[in-house]
Amino acid sequence: MAGNAKGVEFDEAGIDFESRLMTGAETEEDSAVELTLRPQTLSEYIGQEKAKEHLAVYIEAARQRGEALDHVLLYGPPGLGKTTLSGIIAHEMGVELRVTSGPAIEKPGDLAALLTNLGEGDVLFVDEIHRLSRAVEEVLYPAMEDYALDIMIGKGPSARSIRIDLPRFTLIGATTRAGQLSAPLRDRFGVVMRLELYTPEELATIVRRSAGILHISCADDGALEIARRSRGTPRIANRLLKRVRDFAQVIGDGTITSALAREALSKLDIDPLGLDDIDRRMLRVIIQHYGGGPVGLETLAAAVGEEAVTLEDVYEPYLMQIGFLARTPRGRCVTPGGYEHLGLPMPAQAPAETTEQQKLF
Ligand code: ADE
Repeated sequence: MAGNAKGVEFDEAGIDFESRLMTGAETEEDSAVELTLRPQTLSEYIGQEKAKEHLAVYIEAARQRGEALDHVLLYGPPGLGKTTLSGIIAHEMGVELRVTSGPAIEKPGDLAALLTNLGEGDVLFVDEIHRLSRAVEEVLYPAMEDYALDIMIGKGPSARSIRIDLPRFTLIGATTRAGQLSAPLRDRFGVVMRLELYTPEELATIVRRSAGILHISCADDGALEIARRSRGTPRIANRLLKRVRDFAQVIGDGTITSALAREALSKLDIDPLGLDDIDRRMLRVIIQHYGGGPVGLETLAAAVGEEAVTLEDVYEPYLMQIGFLARTPRGRCVTPGGYEHLGLPMPAQAPAETTEQQKLF
């Protein structure tokens, strides 16, 4: 961790430490803690009721037939438990889980090595599957469809291909952006599931469960206070639980009460709805520079000083869920709720561009 002139801490990737607290992106500390907190079975997994209900049926059916589970594509914002769910699927199927990611599979040979080392029925989890190269995707198609690898031997006119049989396996692909997957790859998944942001009540249950496992004393209203400020994301809820525990230990009596949680989270600049500095900056820029919108994503990203994909994948889903931001064909607009949250007045007379907003509200 390195400092800068303003005293703000950045990590190696240049991500501001405080704001990272509120993104779903995984850190090393998260992965260590998540391992101990990860539920093993569908019944321990909280929320995502529809996905769970459907998966329970598919798992039972595949088990009864003695087959590998069909390939599954999980998509949705980061931090919602895609890896966790894959572990549960493997556990419930009674098979091994192998975890990798799109960027880690650089060459077709890397994928071939992974596939040929799988056992019968195993689950191969590929995170960020939208980042696979085209050459690697080509190897994946026959593997998914026929459990086979087509290997080219030689070059030029004498080149020929030989086919190697693979064990039957389940590919679980995870992505924050289903739209970026190529159509041939998307079409090869038998099951496509969208994971939704969690409700505060579901997150409070997760916080209570994690507090129990980590031996943290946490009152129910303390858990709910953390849950309300976790942007619908279990990974953020678990991260905030650990930070609030530190405050409870040092400035409280060790127990996380709602008052203690409120005090700790406001010290961390996380507001009552879980918005951080970047969320507020996004809303303020749209209001103050673009009359409340519509404004295009790229323009907004440049004005806020963040990557467009970060705004789209990490910040927008929650702002839209709580109804502060709307996506229109002409760009992003702040809703009346967003104005109210920032304490800014709605313009009395809408300029020409905001007629789009008026149509919406
Ligand atoms: N930890 C992280 N996500 C979880 C979930 N959905 N259920 C239970 N514990 C979790």
